[in-house]
Amino acid sequence: MKDYERLLNGNRDYAAEMVAKDPDYFKRLSEIQRPEFLWIGCSDSRVPANEITNTPPGEIFVHRNVANIVIQTDSNLLSVLQYAVEVLEVKHVIVCGHYGCGGVLAAMSNHHLGVVNKWISSIKDIYRFHRAEVDGISNMDERAARLVELNVCEQVNNLAKTSIIQRAWKVNKRPDLHGWVYGLKDGRIKTLCDMPAGSAIDPIYQFDNL
Ligand code: CO
Repeated sequence: MKDYERLLNGNRDYAAEMVAKDPDYFKRLSEIQRPEFLWIGCSDSRVPANEITNTPPGEIFVHRNVANIVIQTDSNLLSVLQYAVEVLEVKHVIVCGHYGCGGVLAAMSNHHLGVVNKWISSIKDIYRFHRAEVDGISNMDERAARLVELNVCEQVNNLAKTSIIQRAWKVNKRPDLHGWVYGLKDGRIKTLCDMPAGSAIDPIYQFDNL
């Protein structure tokens, strides 16, 4: 058996198992998509949104990239965000980072890894803004963990800077934004920061003609 065939076999078993439990499972799931949550997480293979929140397919609309970054010029992320907010009408957007994130660790190092360094360069900016706090932590694991947390809350802030979120807040009083971090070592999610709909943001980022 080729290694990738394990995935196809697994899929066959999964589909059979679900139908055995509930013959209409896929029919029902295929007819409607109404998730209340948009999840922006890391691409890391150990942080799958549905598994770690114990939710079935259909409940979470998911976008993942290296180090769960929200960048204003990322048309991929903006497309997901706009669709989730304006079409699916999600009530909550969650940015979930994780301790031990390779993207954050890479941003803290001076190694050049190729194009990914361009992607994570904004994390170096977050480090620079919080240098006194981060460098004040002597334990390197704890220092990295703090930058993971700061990165999550910065990305929540970045969401609030988008016209998509600002318009939705003004017109629909939703979604609420949440920053979470997941622990690879204990499987637990910790809440870090929240921006309920209508939260104040620095005036320079506010659009007045939405
Ligand atoms: Co990661």
